[in-house]
Amino acid sequence: MHILSAEQFDRGGLEEIFEATDQIRSDYDESRVVLAARHAGKRAAILFYEASTRTKSSFTQAAQSMGVSCDTHDNAGQFSSAAKGETIEDTVQMFNQYGTDVLVIRHNETGGVARAAEVAHMPVINAGDGKGEHPTQSLLDAYTIWKNHKTLDGLRIVIGGDLTHGRTARSLAKTLALFEGNHLIFNSIPELQMGHDVKEYLEARGTSYEETEDMKTAFKDADVVYWTRLQRERLPEGFKVNQSFVIDEKAMSYLSDRATVMHPLPRVDEIDKKVDVDPRAKYFEQAGNGMWVRMALLDMLLTQTQ
Ligand code: NCD
Repeated sequence: MHILSAEQFDRGGLEEIFEATDQIRSDYDESRVVLAARHAGKRAAILFYEASTRTKSSFTQAAQSMGVSCDTHDNAGQFSSAAKGETIEDTVQMFNQYGTDVLVIRHNETGGVARAAEVAHMPVINAGDGKGEHPTQSLLDAYTIWKNHKTLDGLRIVIGGDLTHGRTARSLAKTLALFEGNHLIFNSIPELQMGHDVKEYLEARGTSYEETEDMKTAFKDADVVYWTRLQRERLPEGFKVNQSFVIDEKAMSYLSDRATVMHPLPRVDEIDKKVDVDPRAKYFEQAGNGMWVRMALLDMLLTQTQ
């Protein structure tokens, strides 16, 4: 089984992963030695053709804590044979020959990881493909919402920032459509609004949404604010936004006490550092959840392929 898009998730499967995550986490102190033998002898290849800190290290640490060795390639586009013109399909053929147990791939092209999966003999995980999707990020995002709000139904969720190029926002919107009664508020400027494909996906599933440029309107009565950076590397040089989309103390005052503020990170300047001490700021906790959720996911995939 490959993990390529949030479209392949279902509610029951997500709940199973969340429960497994909680289990691994609560047993961890006593069971880490046993856990380290769980998939001993298995091998992961972690191929990143784009920059990463959290996704790469959380997958690596998750795999290693279950005994899986990691062959990690940073800047694979620059330093692997891709720089010589090798296609991702040919690279995957090599890992097929090695008998590698799982591939975690971040690729610069939308659909690049799906192409890799077509030829792979082992599970392939999409760790971000261009401006396509980042399905495992939406697992940890949904898990963080579930931990903080005790539900994933009936929430008002603001998704803001660069929604045209932000793959985490796209995957999260699709994931939230699995639940009942959520209302999504896309807070951006028209040039950076959520793609039509995602909006059609929501419409087909009966998930309501609205679009607004105004932060104050968006934040009113929100349960969750999911903020993202401008994806400068995917925007034309010199692209300007003539409006501030910074969450600062003033913007926090538009939010209720029950609201939580999330961000996939890295943050550039769209959340003021002063907000970090606000108890509603959950982005570091969210990043921490990434390792545990990925442990549960890898455990599931590696157990299935045993
Ligand atoms: C995100 C990504 O790579 O899409 N980072 C992450 O995986 N946490 C968000 C981003 O780069 O803005």
